[in-house]
Amino acid sequence: MEQLDTLVQSAAADFAAVSEPAKLEEAKARYLGKEGSLTALLKGLGKLPAEERKAAGVAINAAKEKVEGALQARREALRESALEAQLAAEALDVTLPGRGRGLGGLHPVTRSLERIEQLFRSIGFEVADGPEIETDWHNFTALNTPEKHPARSMHDTFYLLSDDGRVREDVLLRTHTSPVQIRAMLAHVEKYKHLDPMPEIRVICPGRVYRVDSDATHSPMFHQVEGLWVGEGVSFADLKGVVADFLRRFFESDDMKVRFRPSFFPFTEPSAEIDVAFQSGPLEGRWLEIAGCGMVHPNVLRFGGIDPERYTGFAFGMGPDRLTMLRYGIGDLRLFFDGDLRFLSQFK
Ligand code: DAH
Repeated sequence: MEQLDTLVQSAAADFAAVSEPAKLEEAKARYLGKEGSLTALLKGLGKLPAEERKAAGVAINAAKEKVEGALQARREALRESALEAQLAAEALDVTLPGRGRGLGGLHPVTRSLERIEQLFRSIGFEVADGPEIETDWHNFTALNTPEKHPARSMHDTFYLLSDDGRVREDVLLRTHTSPVQIRAMLAHVEKYKHLDPMPEIRVICPGRVYRVDSDATHSPMFHQVEGLWVGEGVSFADLKGVVADFLRRFFESDDMKVRFRPSFFPFTEPSAEIDVAFQSGPLEGRWLEIAGCGMVHPNVLRFGGIDPERYTGFAFGMGPDRLTMLRYGIGDLRLFFDGDLRFLSQFK
């Protein structure tokens, strides 16, 4: 009997000493397992004299129940403390203040593009779109820049590779938004071919363009806004009026100076560069180049399906990145594309 009490006590102590479920099961095996000490006692009953057997059996079974009871209690205690530890580890302090949600804002160039679209819409222009992966034909040939024409080297073009890794010559990343002129003319002619005279084309095309170039004032991806107005009797005077009026409204400056400086583009004749000068502020009096323009070349009209004997038009291509830099006084173009919130959050 005493031996049994000791055994029960030592089992209880062993169970209490372990803190991991696996170790508890090992301890259990020492008492209740096949080779366990209690199991051995039970097996030994048969060898006892018949008159002792019953009392011994009762005592051993009582001890076994106590050991099982202690085991069960320890199992539950371990389960509970594991649960508590888990809850403590995953505790949430719901009384902490929230992190808040930062309000986003439009990118400064996006703001400019929206402003440009709004201003041109107000004078009857539509906004058109074209692909950024463009054909060589739309980007150069139809813009009066045939193969081997020296003007092609004015643009450092990103060409695409074919599956076997060779440079394809028929598709490229558009180097300017001017190919949308061709697309706009062709679509317009297709839509209105039954009307005489053809309604005027008045369209701008804002978008991304690509050139192999990168420094403080050049990025391999940048933006342009193309403009095109084609109709009967459209003249250079119309071009000057539309562009000068747009610029004064864009910069909210009535006294801004605008100058048209003779230049060359294959797709316009005559061609000009547009410069502006502010009458006040840090850039006061400096001429800044912001766009190219001109009267659409007869060959380009023809490529667009339009009779140059009957219709004339003007076109321009300006740099909204540059306009944005001037409007907000930003010195480095790369800031637009770095995604640095310290810069961007100033425009919220
Ligand atoms: N496409 C020219 C460029 O990227 C800009 C340009 C000049 C566009 C004159 C025009 C234009 O439409 O008439 O340099």
